[in-house]
Amino acid sequence: MTSGPTMISLDKIHKSYGALEVLKGVSLGIRAGERVVLCGPSGSGKSTLIRCINGLETRTSGQILVNGHELHPNCENIADLNGEVGMVFQQFNLFPHLTVLQNLMLAPRIVRGTPAEVVRTQAMRLLERVKIADKANAYPGQLSGGQQQRVAIARALCMQPKVMLFDEPTSALDPEMVKEVLDVMIDLAREGMTMIVVTHEMGFARTVADRVIFMDGGVIVEEDAPASFFSRPKHPRTKEFLRQVYEHSH
Ligand SMILES: Nc1ncnc2c1ncn2[C@@H]1O[C@H](COP(=O)(O)OP(=O)(O)OP(=O)(O)O)[C@@H](O)[C@H]1O
Ligand SMILES: [Mg+2]
Repeated sequence: MTSGPTMISLDKIHKSYGALEVLKGVSLGIRAGERVVLCGPSGSGKSTLIRCINGLETRTSGQILVNGHELHPNCENIADLNGEVGMVFQQFNLFPHLTVLQNLMLAPRIVRGTPAEVVRTQAMRLLERVKIADKANAYPGQLSGGQQQRVAIARALCMQPKVMLFDEPTSALDPEMVKEVLDVMIDLAREGMTMIVVTHEMGFARTVADRVIFMDGGVIVEEDAPASFFSRPKHPRTKEFLRQVYEHSH
């Protein structure tokens, strides 16, 4: 599966905020069906990188291809690509004034113009898949964090994306809710979704990732299959990072 065609191609991505250069030439190819975990210290540029991929940030230079289509430098063609890349955030970002079902139906209805009944059927199927169909008519504020995050995943899937990006999807959750969200992500991975996941859940990285990428200071410092990444990190900065992650989790 991971020898499939290239789904995402990043070539020498640079990003600056004023004088601060946050991404310093990141090149990366991700194949269809590949599951990549992106980790690194705070401020290393992980969120900025994945926000560039789905057009939430404009890059300063470099080329981005999603499923063979170039994302224009100022993201003016993002509407054409928006459906291809789904995104899940740390803070869920559900619309508080819409029900769960309405949250799922909004983008397919407005962006795609898909008929309501078609979208509703698909949305309900996705809510069943993330095991929360019984909350279809509830509002986000009536749900736990873990439930809200599962709704956010279903909402992203409702656009039938080819790639899913996750930015620390479990780090705002109470510990007892982490597993229910990781289980949904594991399920998605098993079905062959191409995924880039920013996370410090190293158990998830070990069991689900095909590749772990470690960023520091706006560059990719090291990348490897999880088995060797965790047992034989090469770069001193990777070793230091792993040591700190383990200290926090034990
Ligand atoms: N909109 C912005 N304007 C100015 N600086 C920004 C902006 N967004 C991010 N930065 C800076 O860019 C750098 C990288 O931020 P980014 O959020 O990509 O890091 P990160 O690796 O995701 O960190 P964390 O693990 O804390 O989420 C940081 O120094 C941050 O302060
Ligand atoms: Mg971040």
